[in-house]
This record gives sequence, C-alpha cells and structure tokens, in this order.
Amino acid sequence: MGIQFNASARTFTLSTRSTTYQMGLDHLDRLLHLYYGPAIGQGDLAAMYPPADRGFSPNHNADRARRGISPDTLPQEYTGCNTGDFRLSCLVVRDEAGAAGAEWRYAGHSIQKGKYALTGLPSAHDEENEAESLCIRMEDGVTGLALELLYGVFAKQDIITRAVRLVNGGNQTLRLEKAASMCLDLPFGRWDMIHFHGRHTMERQAERVPLLNAIQTVSSTRGASSHHHNPFVILCDRKANEEHGLCYGVMPVYSGSHRTDVEVDQNGLTRIVSGIHDERFSWQLAPGEAFTVPEVILACTENGLTALSQQYHRFIRHNVCRGEHRFARRPVLINNWEATYFDFDSDAIVRIAEKAAALGVEMLVLDDGWFGKRNDDNSGLGDWFVNEKKLPGGLTPLIQRVNALGMKFGIWVEPEMVSEDSDLYRAHPDWALTLPGRAPVMSRNQMVLDMGRSEVVDYLTERLTDLLANNPIAYVKWDMNRNMTDVYSRVLPAERQGEAAHRYMLGVYRLLETLTTRFPHVLFEGCAGGGGRFDAGMLAYFTQIWCSDDTDAIERLVIQHGTSFGYPVSSIGAHVSACPNHQTGRTTPLWTRAVAAMSGTFGYELDLNKLSDEEASQVKEQIAFFDKHYQLIQNGLYYRLTDPTEESRYAAWQFVDEEQSEALFNLILTHPEANARPLHVWLRGLDPDALYRVESLDIHGCHCAPQAGLDLAMEGVGKVYSGSTLMHAGYTLPQLAGDYPSVQMYVKRV
Ligand code: DGJ
Repeated sequence: MGIQFNASARTFTLSTRSTTYQMGLDHLDRLLHLYYGPAIGQGDLAAMYPPADRGFSPNHNADRARRGISPDTLPQEYTGCNTGDFRLSCLVVRDEAGAAGAEWRYAGHSIQKGKYALTGLPSAHDEENEAESLCIRMEDGVTGLALELLYGVFAKQDIITRAVRLVNGGNQTLRLEKAASMCLDLPFGRWDMIHFHGRHTMERQAERVPLLNAIQTVSSTRGASSHHHNPFVILCDRKANEEHGLCYGVMPVYSGSHRTDVEVDQNGLTRIVSGIHDERFSWQLAPGEAFTVPEVILACTENGLTALSQQYHRFIRHNVCRGEHRFARRPVLINNWEATYFDFDSDAIVRIAEKAAALGVEMLVLDDGWFGKRNDDNSGLGDWFVNEKKLPGGLTPLIQRVNALGMKFGIWVEPEMVSEDSDLYRAHPDWALTLPGRAPVMSRNQMVLDMGRSEVVDYLTERLTDLLANNPIAYVKWDMNRNMTDVYSRVLPAERQGEAAHRYMLGVYRLLETLTTRFPHVLFEGCAGGGGRFDAGMLAYFTQIWCSDDTDAIERLVIQHGTSFGYPVSSIGAHVSACPNHQTGRTTPLWTRAVAAMSGTFGYELDLNKLSDEEASQVKEQIAFFDKHYQLIQNGLYYRLTDPTEESRYAAWQFVDEEQSEALFNLILTHPEANARPLHVWLRGLDPDALYRVESLDIHGCHCAPQAGLDLAMEGVGKVYSGSTLMHAGYTLPQLAGDYPSVQMYVKRV
C-alpha cells in the first residue's frame, strides 16, 4: 500500500486498501492517467491505450510521424493548455503577449510520509499518521510555469486527495484564467452521475442522471458553494445501487464558486474536471509567485453507494474536521430563532432556557438580533456590540443566568456581511463589495464585505476575539445570508479584479483559522441561510453545519437523505421545531420531529414553554433516548434504506456500529394508505452469523387499528434473530396510520 514509483516502467502507483491509482510517463515525458479503480496491484497499464489515429485529433510536433498518438485521445493526468487536447481543460494560462499555452514535461517527484499541507486553504489532515504524499513536478519549457501535482494517499481510509500548486519559474508575468484542482479520466465504462441540487430551504436533493455524450456541469458562481449545487459529484456504474457497483466520488474542499464538468468524449472516455469556477476568475502570477489550487477528495469503491458514503463520512470525521469537537459529545441545544425571531430580551431568553434546562437540554444558543441596531434583518450587521436595550448590562449577566441553570451558552454571528444601516458601513463604505458607479445589488438588505482586504479580516478578528475572550461562550453559529454580487475590490488594480472572489475565500479561511486556533474549546457551527455553504472546506473549521432553514421533519427526510451521500450525521445540524411548521405549515407528531432531528446533531428550536405537559415529558424522553444511542448515531455507519424518489410511502434509515454489535432502525411514514399493505422492512449492515435481540420497538404518533399487526410486531421485542434473518427475511411492522407516525427499533448482539 502507499506510493510506488517504478523507474523502469516509469509508472506511479498509489494503492489504498481496496483501490489502485496509476499514472505513467510517456515517450515525451508527459504524464498520462492510466487507471483508478478497484485494487489491481502495480502492473503497467499503458498497453490499455494502443495508438489509434483519430481524424482531427492532432499530434505533438515531435509525434508528427506517429499519428496514433494524440493528446486529444489519451487519458491525461492534468491537461496542458491549447496544445492539442480539445476536451475539457484544467488550465488556461496566458503570457504577456496574450499567448495561451502550456505543455507539461516531467521534471521530478518526491514521496513523503504524512500529508502535504496547503498554504491558506483548508485541506485534509493526517493527525492519525497514516498518509503518504506524492508530489510530481511538471514544467512548461516556454513559460517556465511549473506544476506540482500533489497526492495524499490515505490507504486505510481508501481515499486519495489531490491538489495543485502552480509556480511561475519564468521571467514574465503570467495570467491564469482557469486553474482546476484535478482532471480524472475514466477511459472505459458507462456512467450515471449523482449530484445534489436544491434551493434555499430545500438543499442537496440527490438527482441521478445518465451521462450524455456532452458536457454536464455542476457549479456555483455565487461566491459560496451554495444551496443550488453542492460541490460533490458521484459517478457510478449504470447498474450501481446502494449495495453494489463501482462508484467514484469527487468532493472539492472549497467553499466559494466552484465548477465540476463531466464530459464524455468522442471515444467514450469520461473526463471530470473540478475546481474553482473560472467565470470572471483570473490570477496574476509574477515571476517566482505561486498559486495553490484547492484540494479535492476522491473516493472509489466497487461496493455501491452506501460504501462510498461511509468512506466520506469516516474521512470527514477523522481527516477533515479538526480539533477537540470532532469526536466529542455535542450538547443538545435550544436555539431561540424560530421561538422569538428578533423579538426578545434577556428575560424572554432566560424563560426559554429555564424550561429547556428542566427538560435536559444542555446549551442555549442566542440567535440573530443581540447586537447593534438589529430589530429586523434590515440593519445592524457589522456592529458587533451588544444591544443593551435588549440585553441590559450586556451579554455577561445573561450568560451568567443561563450558566446558573447548568447550561452552556452559544451565540450567532454573521461576520462576512454589513448592513447599509450600520455604523460599520457608515465608517467604511469601501469595505463592501460594490461596483464603481452602480448602486449595490441588495439581498436581505445587506452587502458582502470584501474579505480579501486584510483590514476587514483584522477588524473581524478583533471584534470576534473580544466577544469570545470576554464571555464564556461555548459555541458559535457562523451564518452567511446572501450570495456575492458586485464583485469588485477597492484595493485591487484593474488587472487583478478577477482575483477578488477567491481572495474573499482566502480571507474567510484566514479568519476562521485564527479564531478556531485561538479558541479551541469553542464549538463552531457553520450556516448560510441554512445549508448554503455545506462543504468540505467549511467542515475543516466547523464540526457541524446547519443543514437547512427548512425544519419541517418530512421535508428534512429528503434534505438529510441527499446530505448523507457525502457528509456524516455528526456534521448535520438538525432541530425539532414548532408545529404547524413555520416553512410548510405542516403538523407532525413531536416524536417524529425528534426522530428526524436526532439523525443530526440534535437540538430544539421552539418555545418549549408552549408545549403541553405531555409534550414536555416527550422532550425529556427524546433526550434520554438520544443520550442512550448517541455514540451509535454520531459515530456509527449510516445506511440509507429507502430512496425518497422511489419509495414514497415511508423513509427509513439505520445506524450500525463499526463492530456490528448494535443497530438503530428509523422509519417515518410519509403517506398513509387505506387498506394498507404490510409494512415489511429489511435491516442492513448486520453480521449475518451473529444473533441480535430486539431490545426496543418504539412506535410514535400512530393511530393503528387493533387488527393492524401492532401486537404481533410488539411480540418480536425481546426475541432473538440472526443478522441474516433480519437482513433477508426482515421484520414486519404494524400497518401504520395517521399523520407521519415514526418507528425506532433497536437491536443488540447477544
Ligand atoms: C439564517 C439561519 O439559517 C437561521 O437559522 C437564522 O440564524 C437566521 N439566518 C437569522 O438571521
């Protein structure tokens, strides 16, 4: 396992537990991509690509007599620019004469223990000391541009990370107009693509489409990874399903505008190119300067989509998330947003906290509206000073009152934004992104700060340090409620304006790096109007991210289902909210809301004082249930049992611990039926030969008729079944009826 260079065959082979990745140098010292897929060892695979003269596929000048060898037909590891490959390119670079061109020749490589690091950008880490890194250095002889292809090989995790550094080793200023993180060529096979599209309050809906003989694109130009297209794409064998089939994942570690294109070329080769979005992007590279391109996380498995997701879940928890919170017990929280919106004072918050504490909630989060002149969403952003009209005496007395209840205190901030009606904007109008001569585009009546400016990042560092150093704050919810327009920085010269959006991200990452290092005990939760920036870049700083502003438990089934393809439960912020639900007007049983929310980081977002006594005692039971199964839910393996696009009657999913010693099955009925068919379910992920006892079967919110099989289903409780019985013969649940009942069944190995 690890990285091998075969000097005679001139191949690089990266081996993980069950995959092989191979590249080879050709007769002109170019780097070809030879293979990525299930493990095959180290054989030289160059013979898989015999020369074939394809009309209109051009040849390198040195190959003019060998017309079968074309950069346009061979699989490439990272394309050049304007030099014979007409497919998707990784790079557009221009010299001072405006000539776009680059052609890579091998210039050396190095192999190291540990994981490479990237300057200024989040990337996977290797705190568990298992990775190896490869750097292959390529050069363009004309511009002097050097390409460092970086590979992190996490053998045990079955993950390969890739990133790129471009270094101008020439003597003229170069202009990058596109610089992708990676190209992956899959020369054979017919693939489906699964991507995660959506909108505000309906993020990350999984959509599976066949690849066309065309280019299909998943992208955002919004300056954020966005609600609309999550930066994560899966390619899978047309027959692949949750349990079987070859699947590849491409996940950029980047939170800004991104773009992943998938092309099927004239010969059936599939090429994926992923990286920063190139629309309005450019970067000036003076002699000696370097540009680092964001990382991507690649995973591959022949065991279907569940296995692919589990690889990402493990990797994000172990190697992307950082710090003391990644495996730690996260507090069950109460957030006041949907309870009060902007209309609160200290007493109102304490009343919510008192009730929450009595029911077992562990942390109160004070959401938007505690600072500046912020009584609605039209003003105040940027003025990170306590509004003493709402919180007399400042935060300290409020935090003391909350802490006295035995609860931690958390707070909401939205640092990257500024309201027109704010002291900050009045003092520094040039700190906002605005276009000269144009009235700024407004969104939620706010503007975006130019985070590429060091004085903006310094101001925010100072304000947030003051907040966190002077108050016992255990948690920060970091929000971002609009996308980027008017992208123009007042401090960059004209020829560098194409850098503004990426410099913004570098500024955000710098601020987050400083604060998370300075305050390691604070748990940071990301947010962007719900899940508008739910990506691996943010997860390097935020151990969890608010999944969606849609808190309706039934809609959440679709959102959390889509999110689960790439991201672990421990990263998915989810709360129980009031009914009728504020987004959909739907009413669901309180327990069903909890079943959905506890498949995330779990909290409440409603005024618990408004619950009946019966409901309040349910909250206590829910927290006790969550406590009991916390480890299994947060750190267990996640199994999708249904697909909302295929199964419309119910949604089901399951957790199994890594040792296969216990499992928690969850189901929510979404469409009751008259004269209902038996509800028969099959568990997954158990040890077929082990015996499991059904320890509990909880059915909530169901109006089952006596003949509906309830007694029979309950008779199974306490009984012992083999893993294979539960997985193949299954278990029959009662015929659930009513609005959105839920089921939780817990089995334990005997
Ligand atoms: C959007 C977030 O997603 C909500 O949870 C809430 O914090 C509001 N912003 C506050 O403005």
